[in-house]
Amino acid sequence: MSTKKLWGGRFQAQAETWVDEFGASISFDQLMADEDIEGSLAHVKMLKKTKILTETDSNKIIAGLEELQQELHDGKLKFTVENEDIHMNIESILTQKIGPVAGKLHTGRSRNDQVATDFHLYVKNRLPKIITEIKTIQKTLVTLAEDNVETIMPGYTHLQHAQPISYGHYLMAYYAMLKRDVERFEFNMKHTDILPLGAAALAGTTFPIDRNYTAQELGFNEVYTNSLDAVSDRDFVLEFLSNASILMMHLSRFCEEISMWVSYEFDYLELSDKYTTGSSIMPQKKNPDMAELIRGKSGRVYGHLMGLLSTMKSLPLAYNKDLQEDKEGTFDTVKTLLPALRVFNGMIATIKVHNDKMYHATENDFSNATELADYLATKGIPFREAHGIVGQLVLKGIETHHNLQDITMEEFKQISPLIEEDVYNVLKPEVAVERRNSLGGTGFKQVKIQIEQAKIDLAN
Ligand code: ARG
Repeated sequence: MSTKKLWGGRFQAQAETWVDEFGASISFDQLMADEDIEGSLAHVKMLKKTKILTETDSNKIIAGLEELQQELHDGKLKFTVENEDIHMNIESILTQKIGPVAGKLHTGRSRNDQVATDFHLYVKNRLPKIITEIKTIQKTLVTLAEDNVETIMPGYTHLQHAQPISYGHYLMAYYAMLKRDVERFEFNMKHTDILPLGAAALAGTTFPIDRNYTAQELGFNEVYTNSLDAVSDRDFVLEFLSNASILMMHLSRFCEEISMWVSYEFDYLELSDKYTTGSSIMPQKKNPDMAELIRGKSGRVYGHLMGLLSTMKSLPLAYNKDLQEDKEGTFDTVKTLLPALRVFNGMIATIKVHNDKMYHATENDFSNATELADYLATKGIPFREAHGIVGQLVLKGIETHHNLQDITMEEFKQISPLIEEDVYNVLKPEVAVERRNSLGGTGFKQVKIQIEQAKIDLAN
């Protein structure tokens, strides 16, 4: 049988320990101990300022909380399942330290607005860290892109050679995805930067509290204007998990390509030994484990998003204990995201590019077919007709193991007397890339424009 609860007044029987264990959240919500003390400090300062508590009582509580803060940082605080969650654990330790006056801290407050406040602070404190890590990757991508503006590789659609592209252009596509990720996490801050404290259990309080003062103390931009919404809103967490899922999806796409491109068949890229592992049985192996693991971990982050969406579905207002399920998946998402971002950055920063292999892959294919069709079109043949002619040349080339650049001038002249020697230049992959100079295209000039703009964005 467990000991008497902080809320035990109206109870005659007590729960068995194993039931308490089921209901307790202290095993995981102690991760918000810092935020909990921070929130309590702001609350008591507000109670002092509004004279709801006397100076003497407030000062005792403030001093006690500050001591707890220090002890927490020194790793000296011990939490118990009997005290259920971080909020009651902190209050109980505070009571041991300063006596019954600690009981005045909870004036005009409930655990419902308290836990929501802690959670807002938790996410608010993590968002900038995540944004910083994404920007680090963006910087790496820009550096790599700059080195590879003129590195030619096959561009794919349907995983079939489509048209040659610049590897720098490819890298800048990921830069653009991450830019949107940063914007999403920045917007995430707007809905996180709102203070629930003062909503009390669900309906506000009769005490003359000053919520704006508390918000100011804690550095919140706004206060929730509806107390029911304040205690039951977890949109800011759902947005966070959704943003995290999209970010992981982006990383997983790159990781998938890395895994393919380091394979024997492609051999476009080579990963550093530092981001690969060997096999316990096959001595020759060099496996792209880190890329695979980041790709794999995207699944667990999606899972946390689905988990919380499902928990929230149909949840009646206002607070329900179901909401205690909001934390573990979110904590795990942060724990997954930060190292994944760091590993990803290190991995791509140390990739060796096999330029020759990439280039060679574009020479021995028909990815210059569009160039020839476009060339014929500029000579006055309607594009549809030109498309058909080139299609037939490709078919013949496949049969005779010849590429388009192998077609002789005589053969070209039979197709159209307007075709000249310059067609061979047009068919070169690097020329094909260079000439795709439409806005946002893979032409070297366009890639350089993207890089310059990215540098300006990152510098701001
Ligand atoms: N541990 C709880 C949670 O994480 C704190 C709020 C408890 N409130 C309540 N009325 N039982 O959600």
